[in-house]
Amino acid sequence: MSAKRILLVIGGGIAAYKSLELIRELGRRGIGTRAILTKAGTEFVTPLSVAALSGEKVYTELFSLTDETEMGHIELSRSADLLVVCPATADLMAKAVHGHANDLASTALLATDKPVLMVPAMNVRMWQHAATQRNIAQLRADGVTVMEPDVGPMACGEFGPGRLPEVSRIVAEIEAMLRPRSKRLTGRHALITAGPTREPLDPVRYISNHSSGKQGYGIAAALAAEGARVTLVSGPVSLPAPEGVDLIKVETAREMLKACEEALPVDIFVSVAAVADWRPVKAADKKLKLKGEGKTPTIELAENPDILRTISHKKKKRPALVIGFAAETHDVERHAQEKLARKGCDWIVANDVSGDVMGGLENEIALITRDGIDRWPRLPKDAVSTRLAEKIAEAFAGDEDGLSLAAE
Ligand code: CTP
Repeated sequence: MSAKRILLVIGGGIAAYKSLELIRELGRRGIGTRAILTKAGTEFVTPLSVAALSGEKVYTELFSLTDETEMGHIELSRSADLLVVCPATADLMAKAVHGHANDLASTALLATDKPVLMVPAMNVRMWQHAATQRNIAQLRADGVTVMEPDVGPMACGEFGPGRLPEVSRIVAEIEAMLRPRSKRLTGRHALITAGPTREPLDPVRYISNHSSGKQGYGIAAALAAEGARVTLVSGPVSLPAPEGVDLIKVETAREMLKACEEALPVDIFVSVAAVADWRPVKAADKKLKLKGEGKTPTIELAENPDILRTISHKKKKRPALVIGFAAETHDVERHAQEKLARKGCDWIVANDVSGDVMGGLENEIALITRDGIDRWPRLPKDAVSTRLAEKIAEAFAGDEDGLSLAAE
């Protein structure tokens, strides 16, 4: 396999010096870097230090006749496997959103046909400004991966989100984006549940939770990208159907179980849905009149079916690999291990939901199998999905990691 290369755009911010460490860490992993320094970037790091670490010529000007004859700016933007903007300043992101091409960095971003990763770093107010948040949403809609910055004290003396993520996290994201997209799950059928369930009390009220469905939809897309046929059974969420995935929309836990059972047999079952544990015993046909009767109403609840447990314990048609999620706020790994046993699944993805995970863009997880615990760094949900899909593909290929499937 040929060595991977990135084109690194270094923007003008105090965090620019960390791009030097990034270049070195990538080099250690055999990933080559060619760099563009923006004009503002040269105020923070010198072209000489970037060139020394990358071992490559550094590009700084749009109109340099020598550079154009050696390598035109179009070719420069396409000669790499991935374009990384680090630090991505508010200004660079705004330019990318509007398709500006008035310097080498913005021209390269506009001319590229490769995936783009933005690693933002800026003052907390700039990060939280409506304009920046609007730009980030637009970049993501355009297919750019934008990492979440770290939270902490900033060079300017303020505190909050806006710090450049740890270099190890950036490296992990770059490696995930560079991994070849194989089709190792071709011929396999995967069933995924995602989103919340909605348990009606009457025609206008229901019991539900904050699950956005992002992680489940991401896993469905990643498994489809690995070549699997994917059936996604989803509770109510506002996400579009991932490409190439068969989407079945449901509302309640009982509908979700029914749709899953109808989809069997499958090879892989990934239970990501945040299924409501309880439902009102009776859903009224008409809107309940809860006020004016002089007493607080009592809502009688019944336990919902446990979909993961039911599918795990199927005598016939049990999927070869059953994966559950354990959303925990404390003692994450201990609770997750108990859940693995209780639910009878093969793997559990332990998910720390004590922060802003539900509805957020990142996830910190540990993959628990019968062989042990694999702790992953905090990653964007997309990168978690890709990694999990890879682990699944490796398990089916009887891969070197030794992750083995249930005996039957
Ligand atoms: N799950 C399910 N059906 C349910 C409840 C949960 O399929 N009725 C699945 C989830 O999709 C997840 C796993 O079980 O894969 C664990 O869900 P979680 O909400 O963490 O656990 P609970 O079983 O609800 O247990 P607890 O609330 O006590 O943590």
